Amino acid sequence: MLRALFATKPFSALIAETENSPRSLRRVLGPGHLIALGIGATVGAGIFATIGTAAAGDAQRPGAGPALILSFVLTAVVCGLTALCYAELASLVPVAGSAYTYAYATLGELAAWIIGWDLILEYAIGNVAVAISWANYCNTLLSGMGLNVPRWLAIDYRTAAQRMPDIVAGAPHMLGVPIVFNLLAIVIVAVLTALLVWGIRESARVNVAMVAVKLAVLALFVLVGTRFMRPENWRPFAPNGFAGVAAGAAIVFFAYIGFDAVSTCAEETRRPGRDLPIGILGSLAASTIIYVAVAAVFTGLVPFPALRNLNAAEQAEPLTVALRYVGRSDALIGVVALGSVVAHTAVLLVFQLGQARIFMAMARDGLLPPFFARIHPRFHTPHVATIATGILVGSAAAVTNLDEMVDLTNVGTLFAFVLVCIGVCVLRFKVPDRPRPFRVPLGPFAIPALGAAACLGLIVYLPPTSWLRFVAWLVVGLALYALYGARHSRLRQRAQA
Ligand code: ALA
Repeated sequence: MLRALFATKPFSALIAETENSPRSLRRVLGPGHLIALGIGATVGAGIFATIGTAAAGDAQRPGAGPALILSFVLTAVVCGLTALCYAELASLVPVAGSAYTYAYATLGELAAWIIGWDLILEYAIGNVAVAISWANYCNTLLSGMGLNVPRWLAIDYRTAAQRMPDIVAGAPHMLGVPIVFNLLAIVIVAVLTALLVWGIRESARVNVAMVAVKLAVLALFVLVGTRFMRPENWRPFAPNGFAGVAAGAAIVFFAYIGFDAVSTCAEETRRPGRDLPIGILGSLAASTIIYVAVAAVFTGLVPFPALRNLNAAEQAEPLTVALRYVGRSDALIGVVALGSVVAHTAVLLVFQLGQARIFMAMARDGLLPPFFARIHPRFHTPHVATIATGILVGSAAAVTNLDEMVDLTNVGTLFAFVLVCIGVCVLRFKVPDRPRPFRVPLGPFAIPALGAAACLGLIVYLPPTSWLRFVAWLVVGLALYALYGARHSRLRQRAQA
């Protein structure tokens, strides 16, 4: 029994499954596509929405103030250590499934299941948060254009009940129950699901266009903002000291999640050994430069006391609020809001893509029902897993709350990053001779150990409620494994044959 839980999947089987499959994915992506996919997945709700809370703080945590810039640098270092580990594993095991697949090859089936289940927090629950934030911005944008979506169709019931009871009171009722749900979030998830079923090449093209728009809008914010910045707003630089910087780092970690999504496209990459490390490290470097510039301008526009006075809704739209604070025109604010909607859309696209491929990889191993591994005969995409992801994310986004989803995503992703770091050390010993087109520098221990410790350090700065939710999530996952995965695992079936 114990042996089965820790059985690892042989490398030869991992690679052979992808190469010999009659219906394989299309290898059409190069390094440019991958960097664009990485930026597409990374730059979104984190920079457009969470920096307000990170800079100002909230009831549960101190704000970073202008030292938000340091929060971004600190998180970039943490992610950089993990990105090096991801790059080594992705070049060594170029198979869709990301950290789940690496864990199967290194730590065994139980760890693989745990990480696969945990990655649902990063991809699907992360996307729930992004879809909710997308709906916020889209609603603001539409109202600016004079199109008013009923408010009870653009928010979840709990947020409305807690913070805006007038929405609940004004909503239609059925048998006495108010109808309040986030229809906008459902619509965007449905549209992107259809695009992803249609084709990876089409999805990658649409992504490149969206990345161009969001980079242009953030560049515009930085260029315009630089003219109105006041360096005295940066004093005091760190009003809450290291505690503020670290709490800010734990929040803006959400902004960096996504560089690792590149690894889920391993089977659609033309030269994975070379291009995956370029895609992972390149997109992280580009995102860091963008974030530090935006954070510097944002905190230079709005002084810390004014940041602390923002209400929750304003904190969730920090860039447009900053432009309004320095008296910029509605047209410019509209452009930034539009850029934000586009940026969120790109993140949603890449995360839906990543989640579907992780489900597909788990189903191939028998840990999920086999229909998740089906590939569409015409479009060559994992259509069942893609549609299932769409239903899961769309329905959750209709009824859940943004802040809780962000915190849960961050804990889950940091935990996955810890396991990836450990995986590098284990594999250096288990399969020392397999070709590694990319290796983490400074030997097998230094970077992975630092990376794992740094991720655990960030988890400490997230609210304890999110740790508890994470543990509950893992318990549900283990129950499902016992009920389904452990009985249908193909690795076990092969061992028993
Ligand atoms: N990094 C992604 C975002 O900020 C999740 O939207």
